[in-house]
Amino acid sequence: MHSTAFRTHTCGDLRAEHAGSSVTLAGWVHRRRDQGGLVFLDLRDRYGLTQVSVSKDDVPEAHAAASDAKPEYCLRVEGEVVARPEGARNDKLATGDVEVIARSITVLSESPTPPFPIESNEEVSDEVRLRYRPLDLRTARMRENIVRRHRVASHIRSFFDERGFVDIETPILAKATPEGARDYLVPSRVHPGKFYALPQAPQIYKQILMCGGFDRYYQLAHCFRDEDLRADRQPEFTQLDLEMSFVEQEDVLSMLEELISQLVAQVAKHPVELPRPWPRITYADAMLKYGSDKPDLRFGLEIQDVTEQTRGCDFKVFAAAGTVRGLRLPGGASLSRKEIEAFQEDAAPHGAKGVAWMKVTEEGGSGPVAKFFPDGSLASAMGAEPGDLLLFVAADDVDLVAHSMGAVRLAAAAKLELVPENAFAACFVVEFPLFFPDGEGGVVPAHHPFTMPVEEDWALLESAPEKVRAKAYDPVLNGVELGSGSIRIHRADLQQRVFAAMNLPAEEAREKFAFLLDVLQYGAPPHGGIALGLDRLVMLLCGEENIREVIAFPKTARAVDLMSDSPSPVEPEQLDELQLRLLDGLV
Ligand code: AMO
Ligand code: AMP
Repeated sequence: MHSTAFRTHTCGDLRAEHAGSSVTLAGWVHRRRDQGGLVFLDLRDRYGLTQVSVSKDDVPEAHAAASDAKPEYCLRVEGEVVARPEGARNDKLATGDVEVIARSITVLSESPTPPFPIESNEEVSDEVRLRYRPLDLRTARMRENIVRRHRVASHIRSFFDERGFVDIETPILAKATPEGARDYLVPSRVHPGKFYALPQAPQIYKQILMCGGFDRYYQLAHCFRDEDLRADRQPEFTQLDLEMSFVEQEDVLSMLEELISQLVAQVAKHPVELPRPWPRITYADAMLKYGSDKPDLRFGLEIQDVTEQTRGCDFKVFAAAGTVRGLRLPGGASLSRKEIEAFQEDAAPHGAKGVAWMKVTEEGGSGPVAKFFPDGSLASAMGAEPGDLLLFVAADDVDLVAHSMGAVRLAAAAKLELVPENAFAACFVVEFPLFFPDGEGGVVPAHHPFTMPVEEDWALLESAPEKVRAKAYDPVLNGVELGSGSIRIHRADLQQRVFAAMNLPAEEAREKFAFLLDVLQYGAPPHGGIALGLDRLVMLLCGEENIREVIAFPKTARAVDLMSDSPSPVEPEQLDELQLRLLDGLV
């Protein structure tokens, strides 16, 4: 009810059993219908809508106020709850069995015509919505999303509280960390020429907390990364960050699996029981079967390696390639040549020179590839049936083939509408490589430099670092990388070997990470953890496609806050104080 000085009930409270009682409501004019002697107002607040009727004969003053009231006026209404007559009930509205007959109306504040009606924001451009975010937040969609986000956060807090985790804040004015993206820098007035960095993640702090004996830490942490933005990336975002001591990979994974399964079953807009345990798929397998390290498992369509089956064939594209992979699309033969060839545009950004194809028919096959396999051997090796479409990418570079096929797989699933609505499918991708090639003969960490290599592979750190597997893992939901984590290195000597494998000289490593390397020497416990993108998780739980829809005050793809108009220039005096000067042309 949330009764306060201004109201006895909210606009979502009143039911048939309230009939006869006197109530006071406060809220916004959602809609107004003027029927001459009678004005109907739908009064709205966070909790719902209540119909108010105002009679000219009975309450002329209130009627005059109601007649003048426009959408988004903020009103206080005092009146009596009455049951609506049979035919006038509205079962779409929780309060639809009653209405409030107004006795008096107070205008708390007026409003000019809003830039868009609050009923629905579906048709309104994102730019207008972001510019007028306070009004956008009044829409049902945003209200539900923001409240669901809150429910996710409170579920998370009680989950970890029940399990003995301690919520510890870490600095926002931090030192640059090597998370991979560009840092946001904050100039220091007290130390001219020196800068703090906003944290890309609390990675090093949480490892130090483990060394400090807090064996179970979590935090809903604000993180900042100056990177190119996409639907699932914002310059500032929130991580559910956690770290545990004395654990192995499975301890972290099973805890997280339980949490996310609970959220999907209890807090999602369309709740689903995820089958447990979630599949654990190795990175190598994910790349082979799904062409991605974040496989979408809401539909089948496994990629198949057909290098063996196509070796020595007459189709030059296949015969000349080191790797050939194919995808069987059940029922895909119904697609036109034009639709099939459009898959090339999905594969091309990953480097594929083309996408070869054949349709499987009762007579054998049709399409460019069919004539090279007249015996139907390729189709049957792929388990194809008449009516199927087979798509192929061939190249020497295995990763190129994998990524290209992965893109084709997603495009094909969308084209054939194979992605079930409101479905959830989760997995863990495990056994990532420790390093990726940097393209210049060296390696860069696949996750971050504190990730523990698999014990059997330690010996390869010096001889073949690219072959070393990591104790790193990603939870994936519906093809979205929800998070990343790993067991960490807890020994300074091993940490030095990993830095050396990355070609990071010992002095430079010291300069950057002394505060971590030092503490590792004082009996650091074995530890590991993970960070989940809270915005991404909430986006999926709300059935949204952009994390902007679940962030109260997000930025545009150009990292601009249209509502507050930031970033913005600052006064020259502020720059002077920081001893900073803008380059010519920027002043
Ligand atoms: P990582 O860099 O993979 O790992 O980040 C973890 C998760 O954070 C989310 N995320 C983002 N969400 C929105 N906008 C962004 N710009 C953005 N960048 C990342 C993703 C991602 O999976 N310290 C390590 C974790 C660890 O090892 O414990 C880390 O930050 O969902
Ligand atoms: P071409 O030999 O270039 O005329 O191509 C014949 C068919 O093979 C076309 O359908 C191309 O899209 C396809 N194709 C070309 N290069 C590749 C490749 N590397 N992998 C798969 N298909 C390819």
